[in-house]
Amino acid sequence: MSFSILGTGKAVPEYILTNDELSTMVDTNDEWIKTRTGIEERRVCKDETITELTVKAATAALEDAGVKPEELDLIICSTMRGENITPSQGCMIQKEIGATCPAFDVNAACSGFIYALDIADGYFVRKKVKYVLVVSMDNLSNITDWKDRSTCVLFGDGGAAAVLGEGDDLLSINLTANGNDEVLRIPHGTNSSPFYKHEEERAVLHMAGNEVYKFAVNAMATGIKKSIGDAGLTEDDVDHVIPHQANIRIINASAKNLGIPREKFFCNVNHYGNTSSGSVPLALDEANRAGLLKKGDIIAMCAFGAGLTTGSCVIRWAK
Ligand code: ACO
Repeated sequence: MSFSILGTGKAVPEYILTNDELSTMVDTNDEWIKTRTGIEERRVCKDETITELTVKAATAALEDAGVKPEELDLIICSTMRGENITPSQGCMIQKEIGATCPAFDVNAACSGFIYALDIADGYFVRKKVKYVLVVSMDNLSNITDWKDRSTCVLFGDGGAAAVLGEGDDLLSINLTANGNDEVLRIPHGTNSSPFYKHEEERAVLHMAGNEVYKFAVNAMATGIKKSIGDAGLTEDDVDHVIPHQANIRIINASAKNLGIPREKFFCNVNHYGNTSSGSVPLALDEANRAGLLKKGDIIAMCAFGAGLTTGSCVIRWAK
């Protein structure tokens, strides 16, 4: 016995940053960004804090699930950078929604949601929990180099939450990590120690896009294939794929590699760009609320990101 997803909810900032506005900030244009990535616009925090966004997503997911905050047994937040170094973002959510359960954060970059699901699975298997809240949210705009056109056009802020309850709808789940800080890295930025000898670096994202691209195309197909096999299913059994929303070309190439019809891949990268760990649950919530997911549907989810990490799973939709 593991879990079923009982409800989902998203939160994104109000401000829409278009490709045209970005073209006034760096040497780029709408045509390049759309053709190379599929991204048309993204959301960026102006007034909103990550705590407000995580709480909004959590509240929406709890409402969708019909679960009260005081019924929660565990909160896991996946994020690369919460409001504070400590307390964890999970504890901030717990405080704001009025829950009383344990709470903590996990950082697996864009794969964070699937990592959090795998952790939650362990709690369900050990019968330690009845209801778990997973919130995946990143605020990449504050760690983006807004002068680097090769990266600043790719990312956006936002994310989503899922409420998990006892059930048997997680059919398989796989995580990988391949420690590598050369192709993708965001340094901390500051160090207050007067004793520390190393030079400080700006806390902005550095990425060798081509390397990540090659890794991603292979990782998406390999991860989804393995999870489908582990679930005792074939590609034909899959009703929907909810892929990490990093680049439409990566999604198209993965669909081709897997032989799963492209129409089964849910995509909202055009509106949000890459929201890191927020990306997969944000797509899941939009598919859920658009009424695309029917009870019993088989859904494959897959993400990849800094680490380099990947996560993939197959679930049966239970709502
Ligand atoms: N506007 C216009 N031109 C640009 C831009 C831009 N925004 N960015 C780069 N270019 C130029 C380059 O300078 C280069 O010009 P040159 O040929 O004169 O040198 C040309 O466009 C091609 O650049 P490439 O980097 O080869 O472009 P590519 O087709 O590989 O696309 C991209 C780059 C979009 C970054 C792609 O490699 C990609 O999507 N990689 C995956 C990134 C990803 O998914 N990351 C996820 C993890 S993020 C995380 O975990 C936080």
